[in-house]
Amino acid sequence: MFPSKRTLIAGAVVLAGIGAAYVMFGLPGGVTGTADPADAGQVALGKEVYGTACASCHGVELEGQADWRKALPGGGFPAPPHDETGHTWHHADEFLFRYTKLGAKEGLGVTTFKSNMQAFRDTLSDAEIWAVLAFIKSRWPSAIRQRQERINQRTR
Ligand code: HEC
Repeated sequence: MFPSKRTLIAGAVVLAGIGAAYVMFGLPGGVTGTADPADAGQVALGKEVYGTACASCHGVELEGQADWRKALPGGGFPAPPHDETGHTWHHADEFLFRYTKLGAKEGLGVTTFKSNMQAFRDTLSDAEIWAVLAFIKSRWPSAIRQRQERINQRTR
């Protein structure tokens, strides 16, 4: 089933909003740490964290929720996949860290849509958040990983 045109437009508006806020606000300093998909220890910790904190919405296989591009009746969107079919890899590591730790509004200044994801600042340490991102990155095919790394380099 293909998403309807209206759905696609709604999704594009949300993504454009997030992108614009990101460009406008940039990343206030203070974010340190790295997510290294080649670090087996970090990836192993991240896998555990993912299973307990993220899989219920983003899917055990990182596949996301059904019809994730389609707006929900109550506002916002279902959880997108974190595998290569989603748009997680379109973002730099710091963006993903801030989204996870602080949420869309506080982390990135996005107020144009209703976020259905809570911030994890009170339940996960920074090390656990970087680890979960390392795990997510470790699941991408290497070509996708390389493309995301280029996005990282542009934002440094
Ligand atoms: C209660 C469901 C839920 C849980 C649990 C959850 N998320 Fe999300 N997540 C969402 C939804 C829904 C979105 C779509 C945007 C929004 O509503 O904020 C999202 C979006 C994201 C994004 C932005 C993706 C993009 O491409 O812009 C990241 C990064 C993310 N989640 C990471 C995580 C991580 C890491 C965890 C576990 C620590 C997690 N999420 C747990 C529901 C959830």
